[in-house]
Amino acid sequence: MNDSALELPEGYDNKFPIRIRGLTNAFGDYVVHDALDLDVRQGEILGVVGGSGTGKSVLMRSIIGLQFPREGDIEVFGQNITDAEPDEVIGVRNRWGVLFQGGALFSTLTVAENVQVPLKQFYPELDQTLLDEIARYKTVLTGLPAEAASKFPSELSGGMKKRAGLARALSLDPELLFLDEPTAGLDPIGAAKFDELTRELTDTLGLTVFLITHDLDTLYAICDRVAVLADKKVIAVGTIPELLETDHPWIQEYFNGPRSRAAAKSHEGADDRRKALDKPQAGRA
Ligand SMILES: Nc1ncnc2c1ncn2[C@@H]1O[C@H](COP(=O)(O)OP(=O)(O)OP(=O)(O)O)[C@@H](O)[C@H]1O
Ligand SMILES: [Mg+2]
Repeated sequence: MNDSALELPEGYDNKFPIRIRGLTNAFGDYVVHDALDLDVRQGEILGVVGGSGTGKSVLMRSIIGLQFPREGDIEVFGQNITDAEPDEVIGVRNRWGVLFQGGALFSTLTVAENVQVPLKQFYPELDQTLLDEIARYKTVLTGLPAEAASKFPSELSGGMKKRAGLARALSLDPELLFLDEPTAGLDPIGAAKFDELTRELTDTLGLTVFLITHDLDTLYAICDRVAVLADKKVIAVGTIPELLETDHPWIQEYFNGPRSRAAAKSHEGADDRRKALDKPQAGRA
């Protein structure tokens, strides 16, 4: 469905679907990000962590064009989205899917209708039979039973709602997936299943995933690298063992605390499934 996948800007080699340089976001006098840099690599699941209020969701909103930065450049698939006209960004917008914090399904629409919202927006010419077929396929792809397609969000459990939200995020066959706290509010078994689904879909569909989470199990189980937001910047990015080599107090407290050690123990071996990547670089990702 993504013909635009072939239209890469000149000089763009598809190694970093997201590149951020010097990003500053502020609300009035309150500065959330100050000259933040980050690169997201093609094909990785990048976990994004940081204390509550450090600006993880604002960062995601800036990348998808919902928060206009005060300064800096954000390139998505080589296209600078910060100074582009809205219609120039359309070709990029249909190459990402988003699961917002809290799910945010339209409560008056069924799961299938929710999945069809982005499809109708970007492909108004699709007929209803095809829309229904795609919605059914996306619903089943996320592990929901086919009958769930005709249900309203209020008829679904928390875990099913997340899967429905994921089905909608995948509706346009994105190459880039944004997940904001996808396992928040799920029981540990539901969360682990959602993690498995994320990893499986990433590998089979060739996605790149920007995954905001507080869930240490998620970080250990499925993230290739982790970016840490603190002091208004991405202070480090790397594998968890690499992050542990840095001496930033927040990183040490977060990854060396008892909860982290328990999560590390229960996911021993997960690291072997992933390639070790670059060393973290302070202030520069
Ligand atoms: N629209 C807005 N107007 C004013 N301030 C905002 C707005 N959106 C976010 N903020 C502020 O920006 C800061 C970062 O918010 P953000 O939602 O990105 O945090 P977060 O890291 O996602 O936190 P959490 O882990 O709790 O979800 C917070 O102090 C928040 O109050
Ligand atoms: Mg948030």
